[in-house]
Amino acid sequence: MSKSSKVKPTPEVIHKPSKEFSAKARIPSMAAYKKLYKESIDKPEKFWAKEAKELTWQKPWSKVLDWKAPFAKWFDGGKLNVCENCVDRHAFGARKNKAAIIWEGEPGDRRVITYGQLHKEVCRFANVLEKNGIKKNDRVLIYMPMVPEAAIAMLACARIGAVHNVVFGGFASEAILDRLEDSGSVAVITADGGWRRGKVIPLKPAVDEALSRYTAAKIKRVIVLKRTGNDIKMVSGRDSWWHEEVTEVSNKHVAKPFDSEHPLFVLYTSGSTGKPKGILHTSGGYLTGTYATCKYIFDMRDEDVYWCTADVGWITGHSYIVYGPLANGATQVMYEGAPNEPDFGRFWKMIEEYGVTIFYTAPTAIRAFIKAGDHFPAGYDLSSLRLLGSVGEPINPEAWNWYHKHIGGGRCPIVDTWWQTETGAILISPIPGATPCKPGTATHPFFGIDAAILDDAGKECKPNEDGRLVIRKPWPSMTRTIYGDKARFKKTYFSDYPGLYTAGDGARRDKDGNFWIIGRLDDVLNVSGHRLGTAEIESALVAHPAVAEAAVVGRPDDMKGQAVAAFVTLKSGFQESEHLIIELRNHVGKLIGAIAKPDDIYCTPGLPKTRSGKIMRRLLKELVTKGEISGNITTLEDYNVITALQEKVKKK
Ligand code: PRX
Repeated sequence: MSKSSKVKPTPEVIHKPSKEFSAKARIPSMAAYKKLYKESIDKPEKFWAKEAKELTWQKPWSKVLDWKAPFAKWFDGGKLNVCENCVDRHAFGARKNKAAIIWEGEPGDRRVITYGQLHKEVCRFANVLEKNGIKKNDRVLIYMPMVPEAAIAMLACARIGAVHNVVFGGFASEAILDRLEDSGSVAVITADGGWRRGKVIPLKPAVDEALSRYTAAKIKRVIVLKRTGNDIKMVSGRDSWWHEEVTEVSNKHVAKPFDSEHPLFVLYTSGSTGKPKGILHTSGGYLTGTYATCKYIFDMRDEDVYWCTADVGWITGHSYIVYGPLANGATQVMYEGAPNEPDFGRFWKMIEEYGVTIFYTAPTAIRAFIKAGDHFPAGYDLSSLRLLGSVGEPINPEAWNWYHKHIGGGRCPIVDTWWQTETGAILISPIPGATPCKPGTATHPFFGIDAAILDDAGKECKPNEDGRLVIRKPWPSMTRTIYGDKARFKKTYFSDYPGLYTAGDGARRDKDGNFWIIGRLDDVLNVSGHRLGTAEIESALVAHPAVAEAAVVGRPDDMKGQAVAAFVTLKSGFQESEHLIIELRNHVGKLIGAIAKPDDIYCTPGLPKTRSGKIMRRLLKELVTKGEISGNITTLEDYNVITALQEKVKKK
């Protein structure tokens, strides 16, 4: 690290927020941002306590922060119910008949759920969970399509103090099993299927398959939502239907208070080694972080119609579909299916139809829209939009400019939000009425976030010098631990620079203090905004009977950001063939999920290794990125391996 980057970091185009936007914004100028930022860094506890006080606490906290690095307790002694804050708070007053969720299914079916109705549905489902013996601290695995019931199930868990463990519906049975085992979940909430590109995607068979091999705990109940009506097997005594369960219970339920540090959820994410880690988030701090970032970064108002296109299976769905917007009493759109069903006009049609004012999506989607053509957005009235957001990977300036012009009509600020599953909430982002934006930079840290870029020696980098992104002070929505593995938590995030949180991203700051995120420094890939560990894909490959050894690296891809390139050596008796390559891809899809299928698979007689036998992934990465290798290869055991691979990669 810490060498100057060759990429010119500061394109001179600067987009200032419009006067109209700034005039109505909570933070109306850069001077106002700087003032509040300084105060929030000088006295973070004061800043966060003020935000937390806007939530409903059943018992006030006695201490804002207890920090024994790397373990934080926020609002210790305080008690609250996260679900009450997201639902009950709005369900009885002026927002009772306000739409909480405007849901559209892919086939075009619609539901509008008001806060009053959401309250009843969540209470019912909380009663269902309790009736089935699910208690405080029990882990509940949720494997659902993008339907309101996914949010209802999460909120119901929060209401009774159960810890939800949402698994993205695109993951396969093996991934469900890993997450069941690691979390020791005692119940599963799922559906018969969901709609995607006009087809039913079955969900229940993957749950059945995982449960048939599950041993870590006894399953109390599997509750199944009927969404698509496809044929599924129901296991007698274990499985029950959602619609039957909810008719048997009352729609009233008293929300009990839980400790501020009570676990709210575990969400698994990929790391550079081993299996995915269960990122644990707790109640009071997480809710404060998601609430405050929604308020300031999305400038959320009662009259807004907000739409985040993520899936609830990812952290973006947790923080910016479920908890943040609902804690703010927002109206939001939720969509079940694909952006190109029936064509690439689907999102723009929905924006026109529902009058969406704030739209939050990922660069990978924007690049797909650019490719599909400007005529799709041009065919719809997008004048309701006032703010755009981006998340999941660096947004390349071309995508930023297209988004700004073709979706935002040149008038909407774009908030490029940097954060992670571990951070719980956005940490670096423009504040829309205040921050001048340069396409491609997430700009400045949020209030209370002490972000810095350090070199290997721990010294702060100079402007435009590459280094490691760290957060120097604790913040309320930070993950508290890796589920069941405090030592791994400490080692992964707090060992590069003792006491400081290392994000795993490379970054640099320009002379104006803007943060430019370069990408992951570890063996984690970002494929279409989805985080995948190379180690996971490698172990899926070597689980195939034909594969002796595998090495996986990322290569740049115009659409996906990064594509997955795999190098495998075959066991004796197996021959390279087109058929085998397809089989290996499908094998990875079956074990992890379609998103992890390698784009390229190279069969090779050997992998480049050091003399001590370590695979030199750096060389493979160079090979797929530049087609050749440079730099120091003196540690390489056998140079012929590289020459052979170079030929193969060139041919592709
Ligand atoms: O590399 C960064 C990238 O996504 C990683 C976090 O992935 P995940 O935990 O799945 O959360 C994604 C949604 C928050 C980060 O380490 N990343 C996320 N947002 C941005 C980003 N990279 C650049 N710019 C962003 N705005």
